[in-house]
Parts: sequence; C-alpha cells; structure tokens
Amino acid sequence: MAEEAILGYLATSEEIPDSGQFASQHGFQHNDVVNVIKSLHGFRYIDAQDIKRESWVLTDEGKKYAADGSPEVQLFLAVPQEGSISKDELQKKLEPSVFKIGCSQAGKNKWVDMGKQVSRKVQHVEDKVKDLLIRIQKGEALGKDDINSLKARKLIVAQTWKGYSVKKGPNYAPTRKKVATDLTRENLQRGDWKELEFKEYNFNAKGPPAEAGHLHPLLKVKQQLKNIFLQLGFEEMPTNNFVESSFWNFDALFQPQQHPARDSHDTFFLEVPSTTRELPEDYVKLVKRVHESGGYGSRGYMYDWKREEANKNLLRTHTTAVSTRMLYALAKQPFAPKRYFSIDRVFRNESVDRTHLAEFHQIEGLVCDKGLTLGDLIGVLNDFFSRLGMSKLRFKPAYNPYTEPSMEIFSYHEGLKKWVEIGNSGMFRPEMLLPMGFPEDVRVIAWGLSLERPTMILYGVDNIRDLFGHKVDLSLMKRNPICRLGID
Ligand code: PHE
Repeated sequence: MAEEAILGYLATSEEIPDSGQFASQHGFQHNDVVNVIKSLHGFRYIDAQDIKRESWVLTDEGKKYAADGSPEVQLFLAVPQEGSISKDELQKKLEPSVFKIGCSQAGKNKWVDMGKQVSRKVQHVEDKVKDLLIRIQKGEALGKDDINSLKARKLIVAQTWKGYSVKKGPNYAPTRKKVATDLTRENLQRGDWKELEFKEYNFNAKGPPAEAGHLHPLLKVKQQLKNIFLQLGFEEMPTNNFVESSFWNFDALFQPQQHPARDSHDTFFLEVPSTTRELPEDYVKLVKRVHESGGYGSRGYMYDWKREEANKNLLRTHTTAVSTRMLYALAKQPFAPKRYFSIDRVFRNESVDRTHLAEFHQIEGLVCDKGLTLGDLIGVLNDFFSRLGMSKLRFKPAYNPYTEPSMEIFSYHEGLKKWVEIGNSGMFRPEMLLPMGFPEDVRVIAWGLSLERPTMILYGVDNIRDLFGHKVDLSLMKRNPICRLGID
C-alpha cells in the first residue's frame, strides 16, 4: 500500500520532501513508509536522502497527564467550587504524586489557597500543560518557553527523528515489476519466459551452510599432536584395549600392591571377567621377585607379592600400561633404539567436576636408547612442547613409582599470565626395565599429559563437561574453527 502510494505520488510530483509528513498525510505508519523506501531504494526505483530532526516525545509521566490532565488541574477540580476542603480530605481524593505536584503547581499558579483548609481562588482554569502535551503528541512544533517548561518538569525528552526525502531513481516505474527468481516448467509451457524479467544473480549472497561431518575439537588436536610425534620420528602404539590387567597397569611398572592408586576408590575394577586369562609366566616371576626382594641394586618393597592382585582386571588408568607391554616386547628383540607414542582413553574413579571426568585422553611419548640422560628428557620435552606453542617450560621434581627421577612439567600460560602444570615425566626405573630383559645401559625417558587440557586452552572451553560427555552441545563441533593458532 505504502509502496503504491510512494511510486504513484512520484509519477506526478518531483519529490516527497519528508517521509514523516507523507506518512501522516496518507495515513501510514512512518515505520512502514521507511521500510518501503529502503526496499525501493535498494532496487534503484527511487533515490532517498536522510533527514534528521530533533523532535520531542512524551515521557511516561507526560503521557499520563496528556490522558488524565495535569496534576494541578486534577487538584483544582477536586476542590469544591464553593467553600473549602480540608487538606487531608483533598489528599485522599488524589494519587500521592498528583497531590504533591498538584499542590505546588496550583499554589504557584495562584489557583487555590493552600492552608489547613483548601479553597479555590479562581473559578475557571485551563489545562495548558495537557494541551501542550497533546500538541507534542501530534508532532506540532512548540515555542521555546513551552518546551523549556515541559522539559524542566521531565514531561518530554528530545529524540532524533529520522526520515527521508525521496525522488525518482534510475529504475523508476509507477509499479514495481515482479522479477522472476526461477525459470519454471510452466514458464516454458506458457512461453511467458520471453517477457519475464529475471532477478540478477547476487554473487555476494551467502549460500546455505554446507552439510557435512565435523570433527570434534579433541580429534583435531589429537591429529595435530600425532603429526608432531610423526615429525619427530615416533611410532604409534596400539592402544585398542581399554581393559587391562593390574599386572600390566601396575605390577610391571613396579607399582607396589598396597599403593593407594590400586584402591577401588581410584580405579575401576571389572566384575566380569574379573581376572586376566594369561600373563607371561617367566616375566611374572621376575616382577614378583623385584617387588619382594629387589635385585639389580634395589632392595625391592619387601612384602608378599600376590598373584591374585596382579590378575585383577581393570579399566586402564594410564596408557603407560601399553607402553609397558610395548617395552616388554621390544626387550625380546635384539636391541634397537625406539620412539613410541600413543593418544587414547584412560579411566579413573574420580569425582566429576569442571576440570575432571572419570575418563580422559592421555598423550604419552617415550624414547628408548642407550645412555639417555635427564638432559635428553628435558631436550625432547622442549622440542615436543615448543611445537605445541609452549616454549617456556619449567620442571619440578615429582614422584612416580615407575620413574626416577620424575618431573612435573609446567608451561607459562601467556593468557593466564601464570605457570600451569601440563604433564608428568621421568626415566623408567631399572626395577621396571631390567626384568623385561633390556641391557643394563638402556634408558627409557617418557612423559604423559592429558589431551583435554591443551584442547580446552586452545578452544577456550573452561568446563570439561562442555567438551566431552553427554552434556556436550553438538554445535560445538559444527562451529569451532578449522584450525587454531598455537599448534603448528
Ligand atoms: N602415567 C603417568 C600419569 O598417568 C604419566 C607418565 C608417563 C609419567 C610416563 C611418567 C612417564 O600421569
């Protein structure tokens, strides 16, 4: 409707000077007129110039008085024509704010005598405030003094009014042509395609989002880490067994059977099948002996090692169980240096909070060679972590039953401006390596860290439950960036 009116008006007149006036003259909402102007302008049917005007609009209080009358008039009308009314009585007849403002304004105007008793001083008053407010509502312009007095009483506020002046544009036509967006079978059958005007292609329009599979952030970071390991010459270990025996998870790692981590509060044990079917018996004997009485220069733990404890099945608590199996197999071969890595899931019986789940992914790397030192470990860690964008590292002495020395790894977090713990490392003990059959001068340096920690830092996720598990919002996968700076 507004569109026809605008195009029709321009057929006979040069210009619509003011969209606001045009709207009120033709009985349209200004908003509707503005929308049509924008659309016609987009197709160059018209040219439009902005107009801005300071205008005044009523405040909520102003609107109330425009409808009900000013407080001073409301008060005046509540005073009887003859005689008087007590101030208390009068107060009861009016709203508290109307009474208060009414008293002061009606007094100032000398309309009433204000005392304990209130009486009229004049018989007729005009509600000038109400009239002025109504004129403003209609969009009329008022004199400076009137505006100032209404402004001082906070009944009106200034507002910038935006509208347009409009002229014919280069594509002007008295009615908008419907342009076709598709060529249909019917168009061809009827032959009206010859007359049709087609909408031009908009090469800047965004296409519909492509539907495709998306990788979870953990998988992306996992792949990037894999690439780093491969660049450094590491081979991937087979980690496709979540169920492990206590023997490979703990005993072969020289972790004593009384160790608190072997408690059901920390580890998930399996009910069915509750025990492992087979273990390498010769090796089991050597492991038992090193726990009970040591050897290779060690005194061992000096306790009765129990086979039943080693047989218990569990969900592996670290991928170091896999590293141990791999080292055991390696020790059976003629010696050759090796670099191994793995990235896979581990399980711990932990109470769940914003940084802990009962399962997470562990990244593990190890280097096996003759004569390695702690210096080699620090060097490999610097090399590995600098490729993750973490080049400031610090190490703190730590304890693991299977490594000596052991070091916690800290990295300086540029965002948090503090040192954060990122992993654990060490040199596997002779009590672990020598029963496997490695030559005495073979050393194994190793480290482990969680995949979740760096992923959360890289993707700005601060609650692990938003990253992994049943509460994850699937749009996390669709919307996250293809790559993150930080890992190269
Ligand atoms: N297994 C250790 C952990 O779960 C990580 C680690 C691996 C530490 C290798 C030292 C050497 O935290």
